[in-house]
Amino acid sequence: MSDILEFLKSRRSIRKFIPNKPVDWDSVSRCIEAARHAPSSGNLQNWKFIVVLEPDLKKAVAEAALQQWWIAEAPVVIIAIAEPDRAERYYGVRGERLYSIQNCAAATLNIMLEAHSLGLGTAWVSAFDEDALKRVLSIEDFARPQAIIPLGYAAEIPPVPPKFPIEQLVYFNVWRNRIRDPASYMRDYSVVIAREIKKTKEALKGVAKKVKEKITGQENK
Ligand SMILES: Cc1cc2nc3c(=O)[nH]c(=O)nc-3n(C[C@H](O)[C@H](O)[C@H](O)COP(=O)(O)O)c2cc1C
Repeated sequence: MSDILEFLKSRRSIRKFIPNKPVDWDSVSRCIEAARHAPSSGNLQNWKFIVVLEPDLKKAVAEAALQQWWIAEAPVVIIAIAEPDRAERYYGVRGERLYSIQNCAAATLNIMLEAHSLGLGTAWVSAFDEDALKRVLSIEDFARPQAIIPLGYAAEIPPVPPKFPIEQLVYFNVWRNRIRDPASYMRDYSVVIAREIKKTKEALKGVAKKVKEKITGQENK
């Protein structure tokens, strides 16, 4: 897909996978490769990824994820794990509590997008009991799992969930400053002119319709 925006819009959270359709290592490694190239604070790359394939372990992961059993149905489950101590060394509390989470979030999304480009489905799962998940995967104390990413071929693609319109999300220059017409505010005259042309065309169409109705009305008299 050449249009990145259309590509981003077409990704959905997948929670149902085609059973017995495995994902090859090449695809998994491409997803990890995508994670490896995500931005990270000071390029610290303070993350690790566990690829879970063992069915019993996947079930235990699903249980730790507050019994989201569908996770265990994915052929592959990737766990993104932060190493906050490394970020703390360079950036203090902000590195430990914020950058580590952000770094893993960037890597997680890269995994999901690469998977999507390969025709694979994923979901981002962060509702889990952290201690339980750490026990299941023997994760050392200092490391903190951030996201569980089940990976497989989608058996069901949900419809686009509601997304807030752009006008509700954007302020200009300062907090709460909503602009009703961003295109004209940004002096984007091509948009403004195109809009005016469209309005004029519609008005002309309306006039033409009325004239036609009048003529055919007179002819029928
Ligand atoms: C931080 C975070 C945590 C999430 N945790 C879960 C989760 O535990 N279980 C789940 O089914 N989906 C989870 N999701 C997925 C969201 O529900 C999903 O992205 C959202 O409904 C929008 O749907 P879309 O991804 O198809 O656009 C999570 C997403 C994010 C970003």
